Amino acid sequence: MEGTKGMSNQNIYDNQEFFDGYKRLRGNPSAANDIVEKPALLSLAPDLHNKSVLDIGCGYGENCIRFLELGATKVMGLDISAKMLEIARTENSSLNIKYINKSMTDLNGLSEKFDVVFSSLAVHYIEDFDKLVKDIYNHLNYGGYFIFSQEHPLTTALLTQDYWTLNSENERIHYNLTTYALEGERKVTWFVDGVIKYHRTISSIVNSLSTAGFIVEKMLEPIPSKDIMEQYPSYKKYIHKPDFLLVKVRKTTE
Ligand SMILES: C[S@@+](CC[C@H](N)C(=O)[O-])C[C@H]1O[C@@H](n2cnc3c(N)ncnc32)[C@H](O)[C@@H]1O
Repeated sequence: MEGTKGMSNQNIYDNQEFFDGYKRLRGNPSAANDIVEKPALLSLAPDLHNKSVLDIGCGYGENCIRFLELGATKVMGLDISAKMLEIARTENSSLNIKYINKSMTDLNGLSEKFDVVFSSLAVHYIEDFDKLVKDIYNHLNYGGYFIFSQEHPLTTALLTQDYWTLNSENERIHYNLTTYALEGERKVTWFVDGVIKYHRTISSIVNSLSTAGFIVEKMLEPIPSKDIMEQYPSYKKYIHKPDFLLVKVRKTTE
């Protein structure tokens, strides 16, 4: 609808059925978040000693604790979901972490600036990426970094969830990429029907970041090691397609 871009924020993690399903997934020690995405995200972290960090879409706050362990002096974890923050406050609390229940579409309500803004697997829930990155830019100190992971655009591209073509042994033989060029809303079934995400092409993402003033330092499309693929054969699918896109950008002006 004209003029309402980015105004509607779905808070699906507070839906009990979704929340229970997500909790089960994250309880699995071989979840892709732990094996593939988090190591890649942390590999992009600059030296965090004496730095202030904002984690947007912080969820359980696992990364917030990790940032403190890596030397950050002050961490703010922001999330739209009260249920996710309840776990963060119970399992990952510290005097140096402040959790706040807020949407990342409303960063302008924050008065302070940070040295590093992280976001792990949350920005694909945001419709207006241009506004988000401008707001993040305005909340970074000079020289600060924005480091994020998101569902890979090859994943968000599809309008259906018919992701793979299988052979007679039920092995994935190729990915069914469709509608990559058609940006915008995607409604998927993930634990519940009607989970809203937004698809953007890789060039759109990079152009939004550079238009806001950021310099792109590194991008990653991580795949698990051979050993992991042997241990968990389902991870062999990464040979055909990455599941995550990670980007590290820097603010180089005042
Ligand atoms: C896949 S979880 C990732 C959680 C955490 N970053 C991690 O990696 O463990 C996505 C998180 O983004 C949050 N989120 C979604 N939309 C948001 C919004 N508009 N503002 C703030 N957080 C949001 C969800 O509530 C959820 O906690």
